[in-house]
Amino acid sequence: MKNFLIAPSILSADFSKLGQEVDEVISAGADIIHFDVMDNHFVPNLTIGPMVCQSLRDHGVTATIDVHLMVEPVDQLIGSFIDAGADWITFHPEASADIDRSLQLIRDGGCKGGLAINPETSLDSVKIFLNKIDIILLMSVNPGFGGQKFIPKTLEKLREARSIIDKSGLNIHLEIDGGVSSKNIREIASAGADTFVAGSAIYGADDYHLAINNMRSELEV
Ligand code: DX5
Ligand code: ZN
Repeated sequence: MKNFLIAPSILSADFSKLGQEVDEVISAGADIIHFDVMDNHFVPNLTIGPMVCQSLRDHGVTATIDVHLMVEPVDQLIGSFIDAGADWITFHPEASADIDRSLQLIRDGGCKGGLAINPETSLDSVKIFLNKIDIILLMSVNPGFGGQKFIPKTLEKLREARSIIDKSGLNIHLEIDGGVSSKNIREIASAGADTFVAGSAIYGADDYHLAINNMRSELEV
């Protein structure tokens, strides 16, 4: 079986007890923690920043923290998140004045870096910077909010991204973000994704363990 990664998005967690919410999904079988950063400028919502990432580390979280920057500009926050204990950092190419430099900053900081691609954005920047990225994050909703519906045409883009990665022979994660649940995860995996962000489908469930198990059993078929 492929090495599939399930990444609960803490956007849908209860922020009043975030450390506990992260511990619970990890003990329920999650692989990595998806950390959505919104600035009320690049997207019309405001969430959490590097101090919260540092707090999770101080709380004892050792899991991979996958920081998804929906902010503009990006470079200063890349530095702050490296210092705050991030492991993966993705940003939207539209938000960087110099994509090459932003990607380099991430790798220089010892993190994996990648590009987050909106539903209406092409894969051109991915193709140009393929040698410099470790993650392609395909948005399957418009960024800004949890709990939206998966946009079906993203499946076609996933197939395109999968073929780009396979042809390159590079070791690049293909991550899907938005509207993922146990109902559509199998189809999404068949289109080529290997890393699955799920916010409302996990944190909205009564039993995190069951929610993650349901996803895994769909992936095993
Ligand atoms: C949306 C965020 C997503 C979001 C996914 O802008 O990037 O990570 O939390 O939430 P669900 O899984 O509820 O669509
Ligand atoms: Zn995200």
